[in-house]
Amino acid sequence: MPESMLELDDVHTYYGQSHVLQGIALSVAEGEVLGVLGRNGMGKTTLIHTISGLLRPRKGTIRFRGRGIEGRPAERISRAGMALVPQGHRVFPSLTVKENLKVAARRGTGAQPWTTEEVVERFPVLGERWGLSAGLLSGGQQQMLALGRALVGNGHLVLLDEPTEGLDPQTVAKVGEVIDELRRRGTAAILVEQKVDFALRRVDRAVVIGRGRVVHTTDAPEQLRTDAATLRELLAVGGVAAPAA
Ligand SMILES: Nc1ncnc2c1ncn2[C@@H]1O[C@H](COP(=O)(O)OP(=O)(O)OP(=O)(O)O)[C@@H](O)[C@H]1O
Ligand SMILES: [Mg+2]
Repeated sequence: MPESMLELDDVHTYYGQSHVLQGIALSVAEGEVLGVLGRNGMGKTTLIHTISGLLRPRKGTIRFRGRGIEGRPAERISRAGMALVPQGHRVFPSLTVKENLKVAARRGTGAQPWTTEEVVERFPVLGERWGLSAGLLSGGQQQMLALGRALVGNGHLVLLDEPTEGLDPQTVAKVGEVIDELRRRGTAAILVEQKVDFALRRVDRAVVIGRGRVVHTTDAPEQLRTDAATLRELLAVGGVAAPAA
C-alpha cells in the first residue's frame, strides 16, 4: 500500500455564511492521480483552494505528506511541494514567459525532474513568446504557461483545476499527454475536470462532488467512463448541467 500523499477528513469550508464544502473526506496515495468530477458550482474549485491554502477550512483536517496543513498560508504549502494550476489560467501578467517559468522552477527530488527546456519542447509557442509579458498571451497560451509553471516546480503533488477549459482540441491533447507523463513519473495529482471522458481515461481513481460532498467514489474509472446511466445521474452528462445552487 503506497504511503498517503494527501488526506482530507471532514473538511468544511464557508464563504461567509454560505456553507460550501460539507464534510469532504478523500485521499491521494503517492504516485496516484485522482479525478475530481462534478457539475458547475458543486465546490470543486473551493476544494482545490482549501487544499492549497487559498481558503481556510472552518472544520476538518488536511494532511499533506504526513503533516497537518489546514489553515497554513498558501505560500508555505506551495513551498512544501504542492503546485497549483488554477482554474482560468492565472499567471503573473507583468512578468515575461521566461520569468514566469524561472520564478516557479525548483530542482525537485524526483528521478526525472521537469526542466524549462522540456516544457518549451512540449509547448513550443512558449519559446516563441519567451520575452513577452505573459499578460499578452492568449488564454490558451497562458494555460500552457500555468501548467509549465506547475511542472518545473517539481513538487510532490500537482493540483489541476480544469486545465483544458477553453483550449482547442490539439492543445487539450497535449495537456493530456503531460498528465499521462506526470503519472508515468510517479507524481501524485488531482485532476478537476468537466471533460469527463478525458479525465476518466487517465486517472487511477475518481470522486464525484455534489453540493460540497463526495457523492461517488470509484477505483475503476474506466468502468465509470462507459457507464452512461451512472454518469447521467451523477453529472447530467449528455443533458443540460444543472445551474449552481
Ligand atoms: N468567492 C465566493 N464567494 C461566495 N460564494 C462563492 C465564491 N466562490 C464560489 N462560491 C459559491 O460556492 C459554490 C461552489 O463554487 P466552486 O467555484 O467551488 O464550484 P466548482 O465546482 O468549481 O464550479 P465550476 O465547475 O463552475 O468551476 C457555488 O455555489 C459558488 O457560487
Ligand atoms: Mg471550478
